[in-house]
Amino acid sequence: MSVQFRSAAEVLSSSWRIGDVEIKNRYVVGPMAVLQPTVDGHPSEQTIAFLTRRARGGAGLIIVGGTVATEGGYMEAPFQPILRFDHDKFIPGLTRLVDAVHAEGIPVFAQIFPSFGAMGVPGDDRPTKAASPKPVRMAAPRLPEGLYIPGGRTNPTPMEITKEEILEIQRQTVAAVLRAKKAGFDGVELGAHMRYLYASFLTPRTNWRKDEYGGSAENRARILADAVHAIRVEVGPDYPVGVRMSANDHLEDGQGPEGFAEVAAVIAREGLGYIALTDGNYESMNYNVTSESGVMIKHGEPQAFRDAIPDVPLLLSSTYKPQQGAQAIAAGYGDGIMLARQMLADPDFPTKVLEGRDDEIIWCDHANSCLRRLILNVPVRCHKNPETGREAVQTGVREPLSVKLKRPVQDLLITAAGSPTLMGVADKLASARQNSKIPQ
Ligand SMILES: Cc1cc2nc3c(=O)[nH]c(=O)nc-3n(C[C@H](O)[C@H](O)[C@H](O)COP(=O)(O)O)c2cc1C
Ligand code: SF4
Repeated sequence: MSVQFRSAAEVLSSSWRIGDVEIKNRYVVGPMAVLQPTVDGHPSEQTIAFLTRRARGGAGLIIVGGTVATEGGYMEAPFQPILRFDHDKFIPGLTRLVDAVHAEGIPVFAQIFPSFGAMGVPGDDRPTKAASPKPVRMAAPRLPEGLYIPGGRTNPTPMEITKEEILEIQRQTVAAVLRAKKAGFDGVELGAHMRYLYASFLTPRTNWRKDEYGGSAENRARILADAVHAIRVEVGPDYPVGVRMSANDHLEDGQGPEGFAEVAAVIAREGLGYIALTDGNYESMNYNVTSESGVMIKHGEPQAFRDAIPDVPLLLSSTYKPQQGAQAIAAGYGDGIMLARQMLADPDFPTKVLEGRDDEIIWCDHANSCLRRLILNVPVRCHKNPETGREAVQTGVREPLSVKLKRPVQDLLITAAGSPTLMGVADKLASARQNSKIPQ
C-alpha cells in the first residue's frame, strides 16, 4: 500500500516517543560492535569519540551495540574487546559515555547480550548453550557480499541449556539493566536475534524442547517474556525496554514473519518499549547484512509485526533509501529507521537527508570490509570514510588504538574478497587447518 506524503524529509523529521523518551527524528544509529573499548571492557576515548561523532550527525537516537550483560557472555563473546555491564565497577565509565552523548543533545540506549548461545566461543569445560543442540551452519553461498569462507563453516554444537541456567542468566541480565539505568542510559535493548541464546528459543527450527520453553508460540516466547517481565518489575512501566529479534529465518525449514510476529505478541504483553527488527540470522546472512534497501518491507516483515502488535514501535533495518523509510512510517508499519553501515560511511547522513542535501551524501558501497574486520576482531575501518574507527585520534584525544585481544583470534576464520589468489590461499589454509597442520 502506497501512502501519499509531502516529502521524505518532512516525515523523517517528525518527533516520536519510546516510553518516556522523546526522539527528535526517525533516524536511529543502529547497534554496531565497533566501539574499541578497553581490553577489560570499559569505554575508551575512542568509544566515546565514535559515538559522539555519530550523535553530531543528526540522528535522533543512538543504540550502543554489542555489550554483555553477564560474565558468561564476556567469556564467550565472539567480538573482542567488548563493553561490559556485568559488574558495578563498569558504571563510572558508562556514565561518562552517556554524559558525552547527552551533551550532543540526543538519548542513548544500550543493546545488551545475556548470552551468545550457539554463536559463543566455547572454552575448556565451558560449552556453548542454546535452546537445543543445533549448531550454526554458515554456508558459503549464504554470506553477504564480500565475505567468503571456503567450504562454509559450522560452529561447535551447543548443549541444551537448563532451566536453572536460564534463571541465572535472567537474574544477571536484570542486574545489568539496572546498571545501565544507573549509568544514565535512556533505555535498553535485549539482543535476541541472529543465533544468540534468546533467539534460539523463538523459532521451531532451533527450539526442539519438550518442556515449558518449547512447542507453542507461548512457550517459545517464555524465556524472553519472563526476562522482560522481571526487568519491568525493577524499572517501572515507562523505561524503554526493547528487544532486537529476527523477523524471518529466510531458511527452507525456518519460521516466517507471521510466526515471529506471533511470538513477539506474547512478549509484548509484558510491556515492550519497541522491537528492533532484523532480517535472517547467521545462517542467512545474505539477508541479514543485505546490500539492497527495503528488503524486509518487500517480504512483508514489518507489516506482519504491525498487524500482530499495533501499539509497539518498530525499528526497521537496511531501509536506507529515505523515500522507503518515509513510506514505511507514513503507512504505519515502521516508527524508526536504523542505520548501521551508512553511519560508518557518512555520520552526517541524517542531517543531509533532513536538510535536503542528498547530493552531498557519501553512500556506503556494501562491499563489507567493515564486516570482515569485525569477524577478524580488528578495529573497524571504512574506505569511504577514513575517520571511521579513528575518531579519537582525529579529534585530538590521542589514544593508542590497541588491537590487543583478551585471546588471540584462535579460530582461523578466513575471508577474502573477490581475489582468486587470496581465495586460493584461504582454501589451502582452511584445508591445512582441517588436517591440523596449523597450530591453534
Ligand atoms: C561492523 C558491524 C557491526 C555490527 N554489530 C552489531 C551489533 O553489535 N549488534 C547488532 O544487533 N547488530 C550489529 N550489526 C548489524 C547491524 O546493526 C545491521 O543490522 C546490519 O548491518 C544491516 O543494517 P545496515 O544495512 O544499516 O548496515 C553490525 C553490523 C556491522 C556491519
Ligand atoms: S566499509 Fe564502509 S562503505 Fe564498505 S560496507 Fe562498510 S560502511 Fe559501507
